[in-house]
This record gives sequence, C-alpha cells and structure tokens, in this order.
Amino acid sequence: MTHPDFLSRIPALDGRYDIYGNIHKGLRRTQCLLLARLGSNDFGDAAATDKLLADLRRLLAMAAAHVRHEDGEIHAALNGRGIATELVDEQHEEHRAAFAVLEGKIASVETAPAAHRAEAGRALYLAFAAYIADDFAHMHEEETVTAPLLWRHFSDEELLAIEMRIVGSLPPEENMAFTRMMLPAMNPDQRAALVGGMLQAMPGEVFAAVVEFAIRPSLTEADFQALRLSVGLAA
Ligand SMILES: [Fe+2]
Repeated sequence: MTHPDFLSRIPALDGRYDIYGNIHKGLRRTQCLLLARLGSNDFGDAAATDKLLADLRRLLAMAAAHVRHEDGEIHAALNGRGIATELVDEQHEEHRAAFAVLEGKIASVETAPAAHRAEAGRALYLAFAAYIADDFAHMHEEETVTAPLLWRHFSDEELLAIEMRIVGSLPPEENMAFTRMMLPAMNPDQRAALVGGMLQAMPGEVFAAVVEFAIRPSLTEADFQALRLSVGLAA
C-alpha cells in the first residue's frame, strides 16, 4: 500500500521545466475516463463495446509509446550522466508485461460467447483498474523522484531539447493524438504555453492543421475561445 511519505514528498516546481506534467495529466485523465466507461459499459451492446475497446487499445498504444520515449530519451540521458534509473526502468518493464495481459483481456471480451461477455468485461475492468493504479504510482515516482534528478543534472534548455527530440521523432498524426490527449487535461496557463510555443515553432499551414485536427476538437468551445484569446489566434 502507499506509504504516507510517498504522498507527502512533493517537491515544488520552483520555476523549473515540468517535462512530465502535461503528458502525465493527459494519461491520467484518459485512463480515468476509460475506467469509468469500462465500469458502466453494457457488454451486451456490440457497437458501444467495439468503440470502447478501440479507444482502450489506442490508449494502451500511446502509453506504450510514452514508455519508449521516456526510456529512449529521459532514462538514457540520466544514464549518460551516470545516474541510475533502475526502479523506473523496472516499472516500465512491468508496464510492458501489463500491456500484453490487457490486450489478452480485450481479446477475451471480443471472442467470448454472448453469455460470458459481461464476465469478460468485468475481468477487463478489474485488470485495467489495477494497471492504472500502478501507473499512477509510477508517474508519481517520476514526478517526485526522477524529475528532481533531472532538475539537478540538466538545465531547462536541455530538458526542453529532450522533449523536442521526442516530439520531433513522432509522425504528425501521433503528435496530434498526444496533443488531443494532453490539452483537455491541462490548465489554461499550461495550454497557452504549449499552444503559444507551437504557434512560434510551426509553419503557418502546419499550425492551422494542428488547430483544426487536435486543438479545437479536444476542447469545449468556451475553453477553445479562452485559449484563442490568450495566445492571440485569429478567430
Ligand atoms: Fe514512465
């Protein structure tokens, strides 16, 4: 069970670059929404179940990509400066094993005879709940233990460069999917900083596509208008 020290040791950001903040907020929000949908889903409703399982598979694929990005860029950078990352490396290995188990449970819902589908759905719900509980504790470890190591050994410019290497390695559709996951989970200041940075960095037509396919569809109209005003986008 969670030790009280684990909960109380939250280091202040102190103006440093929050490399985990936005993506972890996006993962937490998406996982919570999916867990709630799994809990309330009618597994006798084939269309609703197909849609839910497709959304769940998409989340798991993005979570697997996220783990690879952290391994390849963040842990590698720490290791390169002589800092060990064994615990979070091991947690990532456990995540990979969990992804395989969850895929098996998704497939079991799909292949179960009608009379057993609700039971297969219950098993998937419980397994997913246990997985995200683990992932939440893991992300807490990263944001309270790994992040301070990054702040101690890297400048904010270096951390931003690490993030840009991850973003730059992704095809546009994948970047759009991560943007859609993160933005609704972020607060207005974080949205303005992220989207303001995109506006500066991207060619006009690329940014317009990101607005159309990632930013606008992921926010309520009121939140989109507030973001538009704070970043200074044309109507
Ligand atoms: Fe991680």
